[in-house]
Amino acid sequence: MFISANEWHSRPPAAPPGPAALAVPGGTLARFYSQLLAADTTGALNSAAAQFLDGQIASTANLSCDLPETPQGLEGWTHAVAQRATTAYGQYLEERKAGAPRRYFGNRAHALYFLRAVAPTKLVDGAWLYGVLKHWRNPRFSDLLRIYIEELGDGAADKNHVVIYRALLARHGLDSLENLDDRLYTQGVIQLALGCSAEDYLPEVIGFNLGYEQLPLHLLITAYELNELGLDPYYFTLHVTVDNPDTGHAKRAVQAVLDNLPRLGDADDFWRRVRQGFQLSNAGVGSTDVIDGFDIEREVIRIFSHKSAAGHGAHSDYCRVAGRNINDWLARKEDIPEFLGALQNAGWIKRGTPVEESRFWSLLQGPRAEMFGVFSPYELQLIHDWLRGEASRDGRAYTENLREANATRRPSFRVAARLAATRGESAFDAAQADELLDVDLEALKLQLSTLDDGGQARLLVKAMAPSQHWTPAGLQATRLFMQRMASF
Ligand SMILES: [Fe+2]
Repeated sequence: MFISANEWHSRPPAAPPGPAALAVPGGTLARFYSQLLAADTTGALNSAAAQFLDGQIASTANLSCDLPETPQGLEGWTHAVAQRATTAYGQYLEERKAGAPRRYFGNRAHALYFLRAVAPTKLVDGAWLYGVLKHWRNPRFSDLLRIYIEELGDGAADKNHVVIYRALLARHGLDSLENLDDRLYTQGVIQLALGCSAEDYLPEVIGFNLGYEQLPLHLLITAYELNELGLDPYYFTLHVTVDNPDTGHAKRAVQAVLDNLPRLGDADDFWRRVRQGFQLSNAGVGSTDVIDGFDIEREVIRIFSHKSAAGHGAHSDYCRVAGRNINDWLARKEDIPEFLGALQNAGWIKRGTPVEESRFWSLLQGPRAEMFGVFSPYELQLIHDWLRGEASRDGRAYTENLREANATRRPSFRVAARLAATRGESAFDAAQADELLDVDLEALKLQLSTLDDGGQARLLVKAMAPSQHWTPAGLQATRLFMQRMASF
């Protein structure tokens, strides 16, 4: 099946957002996100996705837009965007060299908080283009398809953007996204909604792609500061290179607009809608808003409140703080801030001092840690940095030995990875992920052997959906799909 710029289903301009347009199917963005992921091959949620997209288009219509007036100005525009970002990054590097502190991440917990908060977007990276995949025979889509397949790492696990991000989350115990602010799902939902609506929103898909694939300053600074903190910046550095305006996704995104401009249909209306889609890439909570929104006190309270449900009833009666036993303190989430204050008054927690001076920390870490395993690596880092206060600006990991950390300067992630490689250790073993035992991989092979050519193509497209492309079967399907495209 083909769709072309002349055949996309024409849609009237979106109505201003009324209560119905802004209502989220499923009640919360997080739930709608899960529903869209689960339904990505069935089209069952197309009308809900359309309703959501219309609401977002209307609510982003008045945001400032720096796109040129006509598509012919796009090539100069994309170079200017990249130039602005690299010039500003050069200034940032100068400031840092002159002794300025990190601009984004005050401490290591702050950086981990950011990685978790943007996860709903990163875990569906590329999803907005999924809907063009089944129209792969249309030569006007070649740049869009190339971008989608590169997001999927050409079927190699260590290049698949979602695999890389999942590995990053797992390494730092960030993989539970429970209790994340619902607004953080906005971009992910837009991307999934566009991905299942290409037939109705082709110009918006192309416009969103144009906005999303430009090189932003925050990507450059994020990569630099993650590396400095000893955290793997690969997901971000990868995007610095793939989004370049000479040969990368930024150029391809411009080319996709030009290739799909109607020759017979209404080019002005198409361009108007490309601009609408471009505006969608600015919807929701931006990266720098997420970074600015970090409040370590609030995050610590959130984590203790979350733990209180499991911890309530698990402590013996003789544990008492400020006259109340621990089970009693943990019975009501509302009491957590007061409980943390009581722990400080009783000397269990000493903020602004090395963690070793807090008796509470010795319950979490160390040879006789009675609460070992209760908190995830991210949560321990957060508590560690909260306890240390200003001193946590040094970026020390909670696992670092204090004496060693004081004796030597912490290596950046890249230096540490090089040292690990010389010791024969691999920092990232996702390359082997597609060789693993996997039930879907077996099912894919079996089903392909029974299907005709058209059926095989449909199955491969299904296996390359946002919910599946990062699995061993999805990666295998991507490689087979590429072979098919090459021989077409
Ligand atoms: Fe990506």
